[in-house]
Amino acid sequence: MAVRDRSQSVEALPDEWETKSAEALLAWALGEFHPRIALAASFGAEDVVLIDMLVKLDPRARVFTLDTGRLPAETYSLMETIRARYGLAIEVYFPQADAVEAMVREHGVNLFYTSIDSRKLCCGVRKVEPLSRALRGLDAWITGLRREQAVTRAQVRKVGVDAEHGGLIKLNPLADWTEDQVWAYIRAHTVPYNTLHDRGYPSIGCAPCTRAVAPGEDPRAGRWWWESADTKECGLHVTKR
Ligand code: ADX
Ligand code: SF4
Repeated sequence: MAVRDRSQSVEALPDEWETKSAEALLAWALGEFHPRIALAASFGAEDVVLIDMLVKLDPRARVFTLDTGRLPAETYSLMETIRARYGLAIEVYFPQADAVEAMVREHGVNLFYTSIDSRKLCCGVRKVEPLSRALRGLDAWITGLRREQAVTRAQVRKVGVDAEHGGLIKLNPLADWTEDQVWAYIRAHTVPYNTLHDRGYPSIGCAPCTRAVAPGEDPRAGRWWWESADTKECGLHVTKR
């Protein structure tokens, strides 16, 4: 089966891939997998860097986003700016309408504040299920995960096999980047970015689950701020590699 072969070839890749630059990794991956490869973008700082790199490597590069229906207005504005700047046809995935209707009828629209289980239910319906549809038909996906972002991400590798998603290849080209490197790239290439970053939001997700952080505070402190650091994953990234 194609996916299994891909997994084996990545397992066989020497560790030197872990030291390659983000651009070199993306160039290899596009050559190897396009059109069965796409970037998952929530249009945070890391994702706009990757979009800029990808489109410069190949204007046909694919980008998808999971529109939970609860995104901040600023994220939708940025999507439009990116679309215009790069001529990019962003592939948008919505949650299943009947699943959202059933969930909010039973638990209310703001269920996420009531318990971790309710928050995970909402992330499951609005993000995780749409992700499984977005990944269908792909051999590889790219994310903006960085090790520095969270305790849950400290082991992230640049190339791995995503066992949670049927053995797809998962590429995290910025795994070893610092936040300063991300912003240096954005400035050097005048990449459009989410204006919430200028208002104290280092990490941006859904509007009701994201708030600004104080200077010096943990960058992910504003995500699901009512939960402890070790539960702050929505289910998109469940493996360590
Ligand atoms: S999250 O799991 O806590 O929401 P985070 O916001 O840090 O993730 O983003 C990490 C990476 O996950 C992003 O760089 C992007 O690749 C992917 N991602 C997160 N949210 C989405 C989304 N709504 N649509 C597509 N990709 C996403
Ligand atoms: Fe729901 Fe919040 Fe998860 Fe968005 S981040 S899917 S609003 S719980």
